Amino acid sequence: METEKPRILVGDKIVDEAIAMLRQNADVDIKIGIGQEELESVIENYDALIVRSVPLVTEAVLSRGKRLKVVGRAGNGVDNIDVDAATRHGVVVVNTPDSNSISACEQTIALMLAAARNLPQANAALKQGSWGRNRFMGNELYSKTLGIVGLGRIGSLLATRLKSFGMRVIACDPYITPERFKRFGVERMETLNDLVRQADFITVHTPKTEETVGMIGEEQFKIAKPGVRVVNCARGGIIDEQALASALRQGIIAGASLDVFSNEPCTGNPLLEFDNVVVTPHIGATTHEAQHRVGTDVATFVLAALRGEIAPNTVNLPCLMGDELDSLRPHLILAESLGKLYYQLDKGPVERVELTYSGEIANKETGIITLAFLKGLLTPVMGENVNLVNASWLAENRGVKVFEKREAEATGYLNLITACIAQDGKQTSFAGTVGLDNGSRIVRINRYQMDIVLTPYMLFVEHLDRPGMIGFLGTILGKANVNIATMQVGRVTRDQEAMMILSVDSPLDEVVMAQLRQLEGIRSVKAISLR
Ligand code: NAD
Ligand code: MLT
Repeated sequence: METEKPRILVGDKIVDEAIAMLRQNADVDIKIGIGQEELESVIENYDALIVRSVPLVTEAVLSRGKRLKVVGRAGNGVDNIDVDAATRHGVVVVNTPDSNSISACEQTIALMLAAARNLPQANAALKQGSWGRNRFMGNELYSKTLGIVGLGRIGSLLATRLKSFGMRVIACDPYITPERFKRFGVERMETLNDLVRQADFITVHTPKTEETVGMIGEEQFKIAKPGVRVVNCARGGIIDEQALASALRQGIIAGASLDVFSNEPCTGNPLLEFDNVVVTPHIGATTHEAQHRVGTDVATFVLAALRGEIAPNTVNLPCLMGDELDSLRPHLILAESLGKLYYQLDKGPVERVELTYSGEIANKETGIITLAFLKGLLTPVMGENVNLVNASWLAENRGVKVFEKREAEATGYLNLITACIAQDGKQTSFAGTVGLDNGSRIVRINRYQMDIVLTPYMLFVEHLDRPGMIGFLGTILGKANVNIATMQVGRVTRDQEAMMILSVDSPLDEVVMAQLRQLEGIRSVKAISLR
């Protein structure tokens, strides 16, 4: 039977090659410049939505998108997407932050030079027939101090390039290590105001957050060097527009270069009236090269997310590099399987989950492994509504407290994941490991030690440790034509209780389960599905 293709809505211009990639795998509708109302009314028909900095992907859009699985941002900033709401709705948000950094960096340099050398004014004057050289006296960048606020992707590209202009580069970024400053040969400023006092050019490269909105404002213009020039090629409003207009009016600063504005599209902004303000209509990423990368990357990531894979730039999952994700994949499978065991072996509300990562896995990005465990834990009770993106939120909402522990040693194993689940004063625990073949093995259930490969259909049997049990059980399964792939018995001490675990090739029906439960000496029989 042919499965229905996913449906993708593209809400802004992306390159034709990206559209062709999407069309090979999905039905694609293109509605460039779609309005909010139309988006809200049609979104229920789509599995994926691709946007640039418009339209807004709001709670209203996400709650109406009943089959929506992924929102792809063709670009970097996700300030037009309500990422928290997407997480609650289990919608994956992917972006392409690396694809346009070089273009944004080069645009910043172009804007700095344009302002320092009065290029737009000189260009306009000459085209109007005026050859006035002295009116356009400018400044060199050479030997000036460049102050970069935010030494992330674009900030660091800029530092490297402008050092070759002979600039002294200083930066302020409280969220990165001193080593990163050293790596880029940048002087680290303790505070933003330290940077502002020393810089001849101030350029902002932070995301727009509560903390960064208006971070260059009246206070900073008061203490800035006379003749400073400011650049904003990040997000409108990081430099307070009113304070900037007032500083320009008072002649405190020499000029400003802006690619972004608080309200976009922007045509009536008072800043556009100043002769010493150079403006561009948010074209930092508008190059053939960046748009080619942005489009093909967003298409690749959206298609991966639709296939249920973890795309490299998933905004609402812990950040992972490509290789890291590959090395974690077997642990994600193990953790999800361990999670799935719980509600199939036991019932009752979970109050607390503690995951202990021991051995080499303790040094890895375990956050995503915890999400995989929670996804496995909740899937038997919540079905397909749970995924890696919303697993933590759903768990928290059900009152489950989640803790992670790390231990350097995993005695007897290279790595070990131990899950301890507490409810009503009772504890259940499982431990599993990933072998050298990348296969998942379970090595302990509560007090029973074992070593068995996890397979799609399993049977967990608690019984008295006495001769003949394996034979009785095998006979019933044989008669029911159920093939046993592997089998293992774990026990605490001889003649007490034991646990038998079997991997079987097919699911067990209720008749067989009832026969097994009636066998003498059997304490419990549970059929487990890890599919
Ligand atoms: P990034 O995440 O790589 O770097 C941002 C840096 O800002 C981080 O190092 C972070 O620690 C730092 N930061 C956060 N809060 C800070 C604070 N209060 N003070 C100082 N530093 C702080 O981001 P990026 O890819 O370099 O992008 C930077 C900005 O450029 C974003 O706003 C992005 O949306 C924008 N952007 C604009 C265009 C355009 O077309 N104009 C294109 C691409 C990116
Ligand atoms: C981005 O965040 O990627 C840039 O602002 C460019 C864009 O929105 O297309």
